[in-house]
Amino acid sequence: MPAKVKLQPAAHASLEVVAQQSIVSVEDQWAGLELVELDGDRAREARLVTFAPEEPAQASFDVLRTKVVRCLNVNNWTTVAITSPEPESGKSVVAANLAFSLANLQSCRVVLLDLNLRQPQISSILGLGMARPTESFLQGRSSIKSTFVRYGDNLAVSAGSHGITHSAELLQSQSARTAMIQLHDRLCPTVVIVDLPAVLGSDDVLAFLPNIDCTLLVAGAGTTTMAKIRCCEQEIAGETNLLGIVLNKCRYGRDGGYY
Ligand SMILES: Nc1ncnc2c1ncn2[C@@H]1O[C@H](COP(=O)(O)OP(=O)(O)OP(=O)(O)O)[C@@H](O)[C@H]1O
Ligand SMILES: [Mg+2]
Repeated sequence: MPAKVKLQPAAHASLEVVAQQSIVSVEDQWAGLELVELDGDRAREARLVTFAPEEPAQASFDVLRTKVVRCLNVNNWTTVAITSPEPESGKSVVAANLAFSLANLQSCRVVLLDLNLRQPQISSILGLGMARPTESFLQGRSSIKSTFVRYGDNLAVSAGSHGITHSAELLQSQSARTAMIQLHDRLCPTVVIVDLPAVLGSDDVLAFLPNIDCTLLVAGAGTTTMAKIRCCEQEIAGETNLLGIVLNKCRYGRDGGYY
């Protein structure tokens, strides 16, 4: 005879929530994210060039996009970390541009996650004013819906606006791991771009690397030395796959244009 199970009201309620969540389709998960508009002038000022087709510097990011997609497809990878040997190499600018360039491929579902929790920059680049702290999501205290905003149909962004301390502890926590699994389950992204801090100087990057598939290193032209790049390669080699190195802030052309 089957045992009779009487659920307590609280447990019953939470089971219902789980059941409701599991039947929400991926399309509905995306549709449920708040749709936001980009402030074009502000974005251009912050060097976001991949949202508008007329921007000449977009071509470099489109080439990078195609190489990244090819490599992810071949290896069945999804999650790409953007980091650099030292601060201020342009990681956040590269991460945001790569995400918008990828999102121009209609078949690509893209997630951009600012995990430079000490000094988040993506929010400022995109002009996102509201407080939707990514750390709450990593702690398991906020849902995807209340953490991410959506640009168009296929780009979801989580970008906190205030720095926190003890970021390395959070980045290597079980709750952060669970949040990343939930992100993949619910949004089924083709690519997740994770903007991280620099490798040298803190353990934030090492802390989060077990959650990602591969890494793009951003080097600042004229500032990042080969010795530092090699040092970083050694640091991350045991934890992840190195997708490549992006040389940023290069001068080119007769007018001395930057990119
Ligand atoms: N290609 C570029 N040409 C000129 N300036 C750039 C370029 N890329 C980024 N910058 C500028 O360099 C500064 C640092 O950029 P960004 O915030 O992207 O660096 P970061 O590596 O993410 O820094 P952090 O280590 O603090 O996270 C910003 O002022 C940005 O506008
Ligand atoms: Mg940054």
